[in-house]
Amino acid sequence: MNVQPPLRRPRRLRTTAAIRDMVAETRLDASDFIYPLFIADGITNPREISSMPGQYQHTLDSLTRIVAEAIELGIRCVDLFGVPKPEDKDAEGSHAWQPDGILNRAIRHLRDTFGDDILIMADTCLDEFTDHGHCGVLSTTTRGESVVDNDATVRFYQKMACAQADAGAHIVSPSGMMDGQIRAIRTALDEAGHQDVAIMAYSAKYASAFYGPFRDAVGSSLEGDRRTYQQNPANTRESLLEVQLDIDEGADFVMVKPAMPYLDVLTEVARTATVPVAAYQVSGEYAMLHAAARSGWLDLEATMLESLIAIKRAGANQILTYFALDAAAYLRANHK
Ligand code: PBG
Repeated sequence: MNVQPPLRRPRRLRTTAAIRDMVAETRLDASDFIYPLFIADGITNPREISSMPGQYQHTLDSLTRIVAEAIELGIRCVDLFGVPKPEDKDAEGSHAWQPDGILNRAIRHLRDTFGDDILIMADTCLDEFTDHGHCGVLSTTTRGESVVDNDATVRFYQKMACAQADAGAHIVSPSGMMDGQIRAIRTALDEAGHQDVAIMAYSAKYASAFYGPFRDAVGSSLEGDRRTYQQNPANTRESLLEVQLDIDEGADFVMVKPAMPYLDVLTEVARTATVPVAAYQVSGEYAMLHAAARSGWLDLEATMLESLIAIKRAGANQILTYFALDAAAYLRANHK
């Protein structure tokens, strides 16, 4: 049987590496990546996080070395999470806003060491610092139930954000999903003279099981879940509301988290947002690729790059990823 020759041959643009590269619609660059890092109190050597191969709870020394490496590879921003000593946790998470709390010490040290050579972003959330592991403080309702108290929590976020800005953070990143947190933090920063400190809002943050390894990473004390404040994975429209509110309240960037299971949400947000849109490739996404690669089931480098380009293609302007250093090193080695 005769087959009509195709009128159009899309394969023509796939024939060589050069033409594939020339017509690529999306490219990765080291400046796309934001590298999340953990700084731990009371340890003398960096501790590898077992569910996140290649990621560590850092000492100040090892943190400083890795940030120098990130700068060398062209990464523009690191995002710091604090891991206090278990005995320093309390019901309010008070180490979060003490100037000599571990996170604030690390911010100050990095800013003193590197100045403006790299952006220092800080996680603005109480969960690493509370003994109950929730992102906010608890209160008891008239019916005797324990709930995460939105408005009381937001006041603590104001103190935490100001302490981080005082320590030298360029960007604070509220990740606790309390209503009104962006406006409250913006107001507090401005009143403290920190007009130039930016806010990256975790706007569309889902109550996701993909955060599992992160909870190991920060030694989380959480029992139960975060479903009364993080979003239901079933919903998209709710994310558009969260994003709109955060922009109206003064967010300089918004974020969607996790990334890969929520690319549809990311695309919707990217279509409508009037500020840069970041996406967070979370600990579970990183762990999955590593676990499969360890079993010989997936090629780690190829799936790393494919996952990152997919997140960017879906609409992310910045990608928070534990692969930041590896991906930047790959791009450097391959002159991309
Ligand atoms: C909360 C916070 C979490 C993550 C970032 N900030 C955990 C949570 O909400 O339970 C998860 C990051 C990851 O999984 O990589 N401060």
